[in-house]
Amino acid sequence: MAEGAQTGTQAQTPARMRRPAAGAPLRIALAGLGTVGGGVLRLIEANGALIARRAGRPIIVTAVSARDRDKDRGLDMTRYAWEDDMTRMAARADVDVVVELVGGADGPALTLARQALRSGRALVTANKAMIAHHGMELAALGEQSGAPLRFEAAVAGGVPVIKGLREGAAANAVDRVYGILNGTCNYILSTMEDSGRDFADVLAEAQALGYAEADPAFDIEGTDAAHKLAILAALAYGTQIDFTAVETTGITRILAADIAEAEALGHVIRLIAMAELEGEGGRGLFQRVQPCLVPFDHPLAHVDGPTNAVVVEGNFSGRLLFQGAGAGDGPTASAVVADIIDIARGIAQGFEADMPFSVPVANLEALPPAASGHRRARAYLRFIVADRPGVLAEITAAMRDAGVSIESLMQKGRADSEGEVLVAMVTHEAPEAAVTEALRLLDGSPSLLAKPLVMHLIEK
Ligand code: NAP
Ligand code: HSE
Repeated sequence: MAEGAQTGTQAQTPARMRRPAAGAPLRIALAGLGTVGGGVLRLIEANGALIARRAGRPIIVTAVSARDRDKDRGLDMTRYAWEDDMTRMAARADVDVVVELVGGADGPALTLARQALRSGRALVTANKAMIAHHGMELAALGEQSGAPLRFEAAVAGGVPVIKGLREGAAANAVDRVYGILNGTCNYILSTMEDSGRDFADVLAEAQALGYAEADPAFDIEGTDAAHKLAILAALAYGTQIDFTAVETTGITRILAADIAEAEALGHVIRLIAMAELEGEGGRGLFQRVQPCLVPFDHPLAHVDGPTNAVVVEGNFSGRLLFQGAGAGDGPTASAVVADIIDIARGIAQGFEADMPFSVPVANLEALPPAASGHRRARAYLRFIVADRPGVLAEITAAMRDAGVSIESLMQKGRADSEGEVLVAMVTHEAPEAAVTEALRLLDGSPSLLAKPLVMHLIEK
């Protein structure tokens, strides 16, 4: 590979990919030295010899960047060149691969990613927000320059589910892909379940352990899981990423009482992300992130802490389960460095065209979002209502009028608030549109003291 390939935003035509000579080290620029970036440095330092054997060449970090040069990172930073402006790393002659571990869908992370791929440098990122919003553009840039784009760590942390879909399940039509994609939410839900502790308290712990995003609203509102689902769906179905079509509900409205009710029903609550083809001829894409009730005997019910698990149902493979640590420095660094090793091997073998979404970007379909009203499921509905005569009758009448049959119903006074009662029910299987209609009938009722919570039940 020739040194000094052109770089920078000005370049209209992407430079061709840079190729180190056979056996020469693969040189890395690392942007972001936080939880994941620090983990990558520690991993490369600890396992350097093993990695060199497996990659066919040493992998060395030449330049690093973060916000604060003086921050104590518990690592000797003097051995790496420092760049104050991380976007300059894509212009360095001593860099073959840019590793972006800063985060944010736009801003400097995106500028750096574009510059790296345009300049013919490989890009490795853990940034699911950026891939969910700009993955198509970045993949197209990589195709033009022949520079690989890899993002294994962006989905399910250390779990090789992207490789699983791109490689292991490549021969299958995927019937359904679903699972637990956010370690922070899973840590919160399973810890609340085990300890009865408060939401806010457990969230602070997840942040301290390095699981949460810089803005944890991305985790608890379901956005992070939606980013990951949109990426998985594109890989599973050969479609363009359509993050805006993911129906997203987070875990912020779940009460300890919901967790207790679910348990009494033989279920746990998990934030489930799910995608499948739907509609006539499977020509629509259904994508949803939502807290669900999962029965105790379902494999996802035993996924605790920051663990992620993804089920891929292939038409020939059957059910594949990918499971492991979905967040944290070590597991995420493991996925990042695996991508770097892939690039080192690909370059060594004369790897020219990289297809991060399995097929060329131009061949990815643009599927419309599938409607969900006809989907049939049992639903858990929770109301907080005024404690007065006739309220239960009002709720059950709305169910009757919408054609929703009730399987079980619980009513409990709340110790912490006078005059409020929690009513939880599970419906028989019904179209989602019917449940929506029942809630529409109740909308505005003075008996309801809070917006009702709806969670579907996952069947085994
Ligand atoms: P983090 O701990 O907050 O680290 C972010 C790093 O980026 C810090 O080193 C910070 O510098 C640097 N940075 C932030 N803004 C910058 C800017 N404008 N210019 C230069 N440097 C900047 O984040 P993280 O948890 O490592 O996450 C990094 C990426 O990995 C994100 O895309 C995240 O979604 C993804 N990810 C994280 C995990 C996880 O478990 N944490 C798992 C999978 C994927 P300072 O250190 O100087 O402040
Ligand atoms: N905040 C993310 C999570 C990090 O909790 O899953 C891993 O992507």
